Amino acid sequence: MQPDWDQRYRQGNTPWDKGSASPPLIEWLKLNQQRMTGRVLVPGCGTGHDVQAIANAEPTSAPLGIDISTTAITTCQQNKSYDNEQYQQADLFLLPQQFHKAFDWVWEHTCYCAIDPSERPKYVSAIASTLKPAGIFLGVFYLNPQSYETAPPDGPPHGTSIQEVETLFLAENGFILESSKTPNAWYPGREGREHVMQFRRL
Ligand SMILES: C[S@@+](CC[C@H](N)C(=O)[O-])C[C@H]1O[C@@H](n2cnc3c(N)ncnc32)[C@H](O)[C@@H]1O
Repeated sequence: MQPDWDQRYRQGNTPWDKGSASPPLIEWLKLNQQRMTGRVLVPGCGTGHDVQAIANAEPTSAPLGIDISTTAITTCQQNKSYDNEQYQQADLFLLPQQFHKAFDWVWEHTCYCAIDPSERPKYVSAIASTLKPAGIFLGVFYLNPQSYETAPPDGPPHGTSIQEVETLFLAENGFILESSKTPNAWYPGREGREHVMQFRRL
């Protein structure tokens, strides 16, 4: 059963929120200055740490964080620090028409592992629909959250494999894999358990 995400935020029961942006994202932004420009979609942005990191590192970018939880989005709005960060309450699976082919980049971090694994093909189709031609999906994938002591045995978070992500994205017409690597930075406890993958839309 899917969690009531908004209730989790209302109750402050959010162990995934580390109070700072994803270390692999921070590493990537440092190594790839002025690369993540244009409109950037951050699905399942939570309280907005990654959106803020992108907005800060790339002032000419327009990152938009979406989340199904109204409470999370209210927190994002309250914590706004940069002119270019934006937020909107939205369900990734029910995106309005204006999201269609609207984004140059998608940044993924712990949204994929939050949804039920049976919905992963739908997740990939939803992401594909938002990207412009030549748009880039960049994601950090949490491979084995179940070996982390706070993760419930039946998830979420739900683990994955590099092979599964590759298969799902390449099955969706019009994605090519551009890079696949282990990050050099991680939250405490996630060393060697995350993988960064980049796919381009044709
Ligand atoms: C594990 S949390 C990660 C949040 C954030 N990425 C972080 O690392 O702090 C998963 C997030 O995905 C959001 N979410 C779950 N299903 C969603 C959907 N269908 N559309 C948009 N957001 C969703 C939840 O509300 C939650 O904020």
